[in-house]
Amino acid sequence: MSALRRLTQDDLPRLRRFWVEHWGGEEMIAHGTVYRPEQLEGFVVEDGEEWIGLLTFFIETNECEVTSLDSLRAGQGIGSRLIDKVIEEARARNCKRLFLITTNDNLNALGFYQKRGFELVAVHRGAVNESRKRKPTIPLVGMNGIPLRDEIELEMKL
Ligand SMILES: CC(C)(COP(=O)(O)OP(=O)(O)OC[C@H]1O[C@@H](n2cnc3c(N)ncnc32)[C@H](O)[C@@H]1OP(=O)(O)O)[C@@H](O)C(=O)NCCC(=O)NCCS
Repeated sequence: MSALRRLTQDDLPRLRRFWVEHWGGEEMIAHGTVYRPEQLEGFVVEDGEEWIGLLTFFIETNECEVTSLDSLRAGQGIGSRLIDKVIEEARARNCKRLFLITTNDNLNALGFYQKRGFELVAVHRGAVNESRKRKPTIPLVGMNGIPLRDEIELEMKL
């Protein structure tokens, strides 16, 4: 049985390694903002010592942004557990909006979030091309063989 817990300061080195492995660097860039692990909060799902799910988030002025979400065991409810947890957290901290950025190639994520109550609110055309100037590890072609270039913003009103 896997356990979900809050990230602590002690997790920072591991969080950095996780992002390097799964997102090509220690920084995440969304809507022109650079996020580093030490600025963020998060939840991890563990199977023993192994991290099998990770969500990071950033709360500011009554808004909560999901800055990363990963499940390493697809279709077992890990992503859903993490999203339920961040909704609960954002509500408890009086946020009025939960939002996130995904990319135009990530058809799986677009379906996943919409099925869980998020709505599409904006397409930021070419935003990933801009991010790539700072983070060249962002590939030119993303998932599903689709050119990776735009950010798509989804939100849930709380
Ligand atoms: C998007 C992502 C986080 C989803 O994680 P996940 O753990 O597979 O999510 P879940 O298992 O909760 O849900 C996936 C599907 O499995 C189903 N599922 C949930 N629990 C299940 C269970 N116990 N047994 C079988 N299937 C289950 C869900 O119904 C869901 O299907 P649906 O979307 O058609 O409703 C994951 O695909 C991922 O890490 N992708 C790569 C990184 C990424 O794209 N992150 C988001 C970028 S912003």
